[in-house]
Amino acid sequence: MESGTVEISVAGKPVQAKVGETIIHALWAAGMGDAVKTGCVGGVCGACTVNIRFKDGKPGGTDLACLRPVEEGMEVFPCPVESIPAVAPSSEPDVASLQAAFPTLNRCTKCGSCTTACPMSIPVMDSVLRMQEGKFEEVSEDFITCIHCGLCRFVCEDKVKPHNMGLWVRRSEGMSRDNPSLDQSGLEPIGDAAEQEWTYLFTGDPEERFKRAKYFREHGRAGA
Ligand code: SF4
Ligand code: SF4
Ligand code: FES
Repeated sequence: MESGTVEISVAGKPVQAKVGETIIHALWAAGMGDAVKTGCVGGVCGACTVNIRFKDGKPGGTDLACLRPVEEGMEVFPCPVESIPAVAPSSEPDVASLQAAFPTLNRCTKCGSCTTACPMSIPVMDSVLRMQEGKFEEVSEDFITCIHCGLCRFVCEDKVKPHNMGLWVRRSEGMSRDNPSLDQSGLEPIGDAAEQEWTYLFTGDPEERFKRAKYFREHGRAGA
């Protein structure tokens, strides 16, 4: 092996990597970019979540391939979580509308696997139970630190989709007209504007997109 390089294994395949580079960059350099999914490449989106085991018995675990530098003998196991289409939030969220959006809501068998798997220490299972009770403000708080790595969905045998529901609740609360935190902050609810924005995002109207891009280019900010 050349000096300044290490050998790691990704899904059982050996990969030569430069000391100091991240797992993702090593994979790109080796022409194996498809081995791990990527999104932001900045530690935010969680798309590149992997499990890691170290050669010397050092504790491994869940990590982000776009941030974690390679180490000699490191074994990397990708966590392939299929993306699912976004579900439109509701400006008047309640248990019924959450269940209509996610019929999986009541499938939870309280096994606790999602909570154990979460790298952000979010009480995922308890939050699913809060969703069933309509405690949406608490659910929104629970998921503030969610990086959407998808591990809670990956480990859920009952396919409950906890973080997708958590995101739906957060988005819905954000556009709700009946949001106590908005009352306290003195901010105006953005219900109608948010609904228009969601309509735009879901229809993907090319004319509207062009108009917005043009405005941004001319003014250096959004606001068409
Ligand atoms: S892993 Fe699934 S079934 Fe188990 S507690 Fe979490 S949501 Fe419920
Ligand atoms: S997606 Fe699930 S496991 Fe990942 S940070 Fe969010 S709640 Fe935790
Ligand atoms: S690619 Fe987004 S966190 Fe790694």
